This record gives sequence, C-alpha cells and structure tokens, in this order.
Amino acid sequence: MNKNPNKHAENQKLDRKTTKNILVRLLGYIMRYWPLFLLAIALTLISNQLSLLGPTYSGEAIDAIANENGVNFAAVKENVIKMLICYMLSAITSYLLAVLMIKISQKIVRTMRKQVFEKLTTLPVSFFDTTATGDIISRISYDIDTVNSSLSHDLIQVMTSIYTVVGSLVFMWQISKPMIIVFVITVPISVIFTRYRSKKVRPLFRARSRKLGELNGYAEEMLSGCRTIKAYNREDEIGSRFDSRNKDAMDAYYNAEYYGAALGPSVNFINNLSISLVMIFGGILYMYSQSGAVLAGSAFFITLGGVAKFVQYSRKFAGPINEFANILHEFQSAFSAAERVFRIIDEEPETPDRKDAVVLTDVKGEIDFNNVTFGYTPEKTILRDISVTVKTGKTIAIVGPTGAGKTTIINLLMRFYDVSSGEIRLDGAETRDITRSSLRGAYTMVLQDTWLFQGTIFENIIYGKENATMEEVKKAAKAAKIDSYIEHLPDGYNTILSDEGVNISKGQRQLITIARAMLSDSPMLILDEATSNVDSRTEIKIQEAMNELMKDRTCFVIAHRLSTIQNADLILVIRDGKISEQGNHEELLRLGGFYSTLYNSQFS
Ligand SMILES: Nc1ncnc2c1ncn2[C@@H]1O[C@H](COP(=O)(O)OP(=O)(O)O)[C@@H](O)[C@H]1O
Ligand SMILES: [Mg+2]
Repeated sequence: MNKNPNKHAENQKLDRKTTKNILVRLLGYIMRYWPLFLLAIALTLISNQLSLLGPTYSGEAIDAIANENGVNFAAVKENVIKMLICYMLSAITSYLLAVLMIKISQKIVRTMRKQVFEKLTTLPVSFFDTTATGDIISRISYDIDTVNSSLSHDLIQVMTSIYTVVGSLVFMWQISKPMIIVFVITVPISVIFTRYRSKKVRPLFRARSRKLGELNGYAEEMLSGCRTIKAYNREDEIGSRFDSRNKDAMDAYYNAEYYGAALGPSVNFINNLSISLVMIFGGILYMYSQSGAVLAGSAFFITLGGVAKFVQYSRKFAGPINEFANILHEFQSAFSAAERVFRIIDEEPETPDRKDAVVLTDVKGEIDFNNVTFGYTPEKTILRDISVTVKTGKTIAIVGPTGAGKTTIINLLMRFYDVSSGEIRLDGAETRDITRSSLRGAYTMVLQDTWLFQGTIFENIIYGKENATMEEVKKAAKAAKIDSYIEHLPDGYNTILSDEGVNISKGQRQLITIARAMLSDSPMLILDEATSNVDSRTEIKIQEAMNELMKDRTCFVIAHRLSTIQNADLILVIRDGKISEQGNHEELLRLGGFYSTLYNSQFS
C-alpha cells in the first residue's frame, strides 16, 4: 500500500475555525426551515423515547412471569401490549422523521444549487478561465449531494445517538447503579478501538476514493482523446496503463474493505464482552437478590426483568458509541464538500459598475486605446503600452503570432478583464465609466470557440435578437451559406442541437454563429478567428455577406488567413506585447516586415 502522505488527505483536514464556520453556515440553511426542523427534533425525541421505553415493558413482562407469586397473566399481557405499541409508534415516528428530513434537505439542496448557480452568473470571466469546468460541475452536483445526505441523515443520527446514550444511561442508572460499573471497563476499550479503527481505516477509505478518482480521470482523458489514441495506435499501451490504475484502485478498495471488515469482529468482541459482563454481573446480583442476601430496596437488588432490561439498554448504549467514528467520518467528508461549495458562493463577483456609470445609447463606435498595458497576472505583462485609434465604421485587423495577445485585446474591449494601466475609450468615454451591459451590448462577437446551446437551430440563430422572424433567420442562414445544410436536415430549422443528436461539424457550427451575428444590429463587430474552421471556398462565398455585415460598423478582425484582412482599413501587427507594425495592406507590404513575410509565405 502506498504510505506516502498524500495531498488529498492534507486538503481534507480542515482547521477548527473553518469547521466551525461551515457548521454555523450549514445550521443557517437549516434554520431557514426552522418550524420543520423543530418538528424534526420533536419527532426524533418522541421516536427515541418510545424505543427506549420498549425494554422497560419487556422487563416488566418478564417480572410478571418470573416472580414468587406465580405468573401474573394480566400484567404480562398489558406490558407486552405496551411494548408493542411503543415499538410500533417509534417505527411510525421515525418513518415520518425520515420523510421530513428528506423534504428539508431537498429544500436546502435546491437553495444551495440556486445560490451557486446565481453566483456563477455574476463571476468574472477570469474565474472561468482559471477553474476547471469539471470541478465546478462536480461541486454543483456531487458536493452538494454529499452535504445533503449528511444533513438529512447524519444530523438526525447524531441527535438520536446522543439521546439514546443519555437515555439508556438514565434507565440503567434507575435499574441498577452498581451494574453501570461494567461500562467503566468496556466503554474505554470501545473508545480505544474506534479511535484506532478510524485512524487506521479512514486513510484507507480516502486512498480508495483517490484511486477511484484517478481511475475515473484516466478513463475520461482516454475517452476524450479516443481519436488521437487510435490515430497513434496507442490502444495497447492505454489498455495496460488502465490495467495498472484499475489494479491500484482495486487494491485500495480491498485494503479499505479488508481493514474495515477486519475491525468489525473486534467491535463485536467488545459488544459481546460488554454483554457477557453485564449478564454475569447481573446474574450474580440476581442470585443474591433471590437468596435474600441482598434485600429489596438495596442498590444491589435486581429482578430477572431488571437484568433483561439492563442487557437491552446496554446494547442500545453501546451502538452509538461504536457508530460514532463512522458519523464523524461522514461529517468530515460533508464538511469538505460544503467548503468547496461555499468557496464558490464566497467568490468575488465581477467588480460592480461605477455608481455614476453611464448607459450607452446611440453608439457611434470610435475606439481609442491610450497607453494600454495589461497582464493576466502581475508577473507577466501581455500587452505593453498599446495606443491606437479606430474611427467609426472602420475595420481594424489584428495580426500576430499565436500567443501574441490578439484575443487579449478583445478581452479588454469587452471588459472581460480590465486594463492594468492606461485606458480604452469608446466614443470618448472611458469604458470603465460605461455600464458593462451596455458596453457589451454594443458589440457582436463571433469567436473561434463557437457556442451553441441545446435548442433548435432557429433558437440558436435568434440568440442575439429574440424577436427575429423565420424570414430573417433564413436570410441570415443564406448569407452565411448554411441554409442548404439546415434545410436538408429532417427537422430543418427546428432541428435540436445537442451533444448526441445531429453530427454537425466545427465549420458548420461557425457558420451558424455567423448567421447569428448577421441578425444582430449592434454598432460594433468582433471576429476572432471566426472562420478558422471554414474551408477557404466557403469563406470566399460568405465574404460578400461578411462585407455587408461589416459595412458601417466598427470591426475588429483577427484571422490567420490574410485574404480576409487585406481590405482592413488598419492592420496592427502585435509582437512581444507591442504594436510592431501598423498601416494598411499596401503600406505593410512595402515596409517589408513581419506582415509582408507572413503574406508572402501564404500567397507565394
Ligand atoms: N485567462 C488567462 N490567464 C492567464 N494567461 C492567459 C489567459 N489567456 C491568455 N493568456 C496568455 O496570454 C497570452 C496571449 O494570449 P492570447 O491573447 O489568447 O493570444 P492570441 O494572440 O493567440 O489570441 C498567452 O501567452 C496566453 O498564454
Ligand atoms: Mg486568440
């Protein structure tokens, strides 16, 4: 077994203060439904009290059978009936309790998911750029579920345990004080065993989850890369690597289960020991009580029914103590899950608009970059001292090697990120003085990473203009040269785009997003590698429509096919974070720099 201390185990240990905060916050959720929760507490108490009364009546029944005056049938019957009623009512109340807790936790889960999701909509783009999507999804689904099951189950379990332990002790105290001495021996052993057990077994269970996680991660990676794997003929290697991870996971599973199971008998041993001791001790006391050596009324006096009751209470008493380690463990995993959820809820939202931020109305679309410097992190500057002016209705093309910062410029235009220094002005107003929604509303974007949602093609195309008619949609699709493809689909414009459904190519997706852009009437347009997956013939075919789209709008175009940007009014070459060349096509060719080299390599 791998004995190395692992990161996950470290991460799971929460310090006391955080644990307390999480507990307080979780209780806060419960308290939203305090009337229901009070009812739950009441039901817990009633159910446990009833089940605690059971042994008393059974003991009374035994005493009614075994006593010096002969069997008292009436008392036997009465006590047996009472016992049955208690157990039945207890079962009914605990059923009601279970239903109630499921209801409460359902409400809480719904609230939590809503809070997380609403939070996600307010978070800045930087959050999503730096957090793995899978991780966010697993927090919304898996972690919230973990919290939920712990809330609905463990909380009641804890209350029940405490009530049962205390209640049984009280009953035992009433039945026979001297016999409680037995627990002075057994409880400490039990505590030592459970502590040993949880220390030994918990890391094994953690290792089990971790190994399973690794196995899942590997499987996921393999599934998503299946084409590449097949293309490089690496199936065998992948299989054997999977084998070894599979084996690790199974070994970890075995270890956890083995030690978990191996400790079961030891817990049984303590239970048996405790019951034997109780019975022996009880037997001795009973014998002396019968022989008259111990008089009725003395603390040492006990009846047969008393012994029977005591044995039953001692079992009730021992149960929760043995279970305690398990509940603690479940609480811990629920807490770390809750922490992951709260971390999203506590995430800083996008800085709010300035109080006096203006809402853009009539946008002309003149953009000024004044000494703009920007880095995603303070350590690494991506853009340095960029200054450029784009007049209304002009098209500006941005060229540069991969990673030069072209998309970064778009991020700044849209205020997905804010400049580190300098300023960007739109129609003379600093963009930070404009509300984000009106600023973003002034642009239409078509990106390399197309985004289509699960819905019909029609719905996807009208995304930017909700009241568009079918005619307009068809016209846009025609301009984007995607109409004949759509019309040949069995459901046409009502075809639902989903992951499994229609197999639609990346290029076709881009054309649909271009059709979407065609419908929009915003004064500025951003095309970031918008046709990178479209063949050059189709690109030429849609060029006319694109020109139409770009007419009278201020456009920012990034494209690696220079044919699309030759006609730009201004071409910027970005290299090493700076504008290294600028001018129109002819000027840059004459300059004989990066642009002309790039152009000649594509067209010679
Ligand atoms: N969200 C981000 N966080 C940190 N660095 C980023 C982020 N996005 C891009 N970068 C880095 O910024 C640089 C410029 O990226 P980008 O503007 O996307 O280049 P491109 O010119 O290819 O569009 C790259 O080095 C990239 O690694
Ligand atoms: Mg880019």
